[in-house]
Amino acid sequence: MIVAQQLTKDFPGPEGVTVRALGPLDLHIASGEFVCIVGPSGCGKSTLLRLIAGLERPTAGALSVGSQTPTLVFQGDSTFPWLTVYGNVEYPLRLRGVPEKEREAAVTHKLGLVGLSGFAEAYPYQLSGGMKQRVALARAWVADPEILLMDEPFGALDEQTRMALQHELLRLWEGPQGAPHSRKTVLFVTHAIDEALALGDRVLVMSAAPGRIVKEVRVPFARPRDAIQLKRDPLFGELAYELWQSLK
Ligand SMILES: Nc1ncnc2c1ncn2[C@@H]1O[C@H](COP(=O)(O)OP(=O)(O)OP(=O)(O)O)[C@@H](O)[C@H]1O
Ligand SMILES: [Mg+2]
Repeated sequence: MIVAQQLTKDFPGPEGVTVRALGPLDLHIASGEFVCIVGPSGCGKSTLLRLIAGLERPTAGALSVGSQTPTLVFQGDSTFPWLTVYGNVEYPLRLRGVPEKEREAAVTHKLGLVGLSGFAEAYPYQLSGGMKQRVALARAWVADPEILLMDEPFGALDEQTRMALQHELLRLWEGPQGAPHSRKTVLFVTHAIDEALALGDRVLVMSAAPGRIVKEVRVPFARPRDAIQLKRDPLFGELAYELWQSLK
């Protein structure tokens, strides 16, 4: 679904020097996979997602990405402050010209899934950070993209809220029992190793800038997963340690 070969991105730096932000990087992500990327700050994680989302063009290398434009959940707060919660989640459907009745059904359903049914008419400034991220999650999901790119969506949240949102994301992605064929392809950037292990089928580690993939760990935990229970599994500790070693 996503294939990158020797993907490289340079930016113009100070005094006319070119700064390499990413790569050359190779990446292969299958349809329906949930892949997490961890890496040091500034190694090019956001740049990689922006390239895959088509917001930047590669300097060199090849990139192929399914048939649809992926949806990107930006780093930080990405809600639209001038729209209500309902309006935020409805936005991608409006863009696509979905009729009102259909929009209403889809938005109401997604708001229920993320626990925001009672806040449809609220504006983002009236919400907590966790609630805003729930809006972003519902908005990404309502668009029903083949590929969902998430850039540290829970990075700014307290531990308890982060765990709750991981749980909700897993529920959304895993879907009703017996429906793994309809799973979205997710590329999820995080700086938290425990989050990567709780969510991903695979965890990729990027080197310091210019980022490349330096390590891959397959996450063996069965689904549906419980992000809290997982932490009691001795294998969780071992894999976390292994990932830490490769980040150092
Ligand atoms: N538009 C731009 N122009 C110039 N340099 C840029 C631009 N965007 C990113 N960079 C540079 O590319 C490098 C990688 O940035 P990027 O935002 O991808 O890192 P990151 O891994 O997402 O970091 P963080 O974990 O802090 O979010 C940085 O050195 C940054 O300064
Ligand atoms: Mg970033």
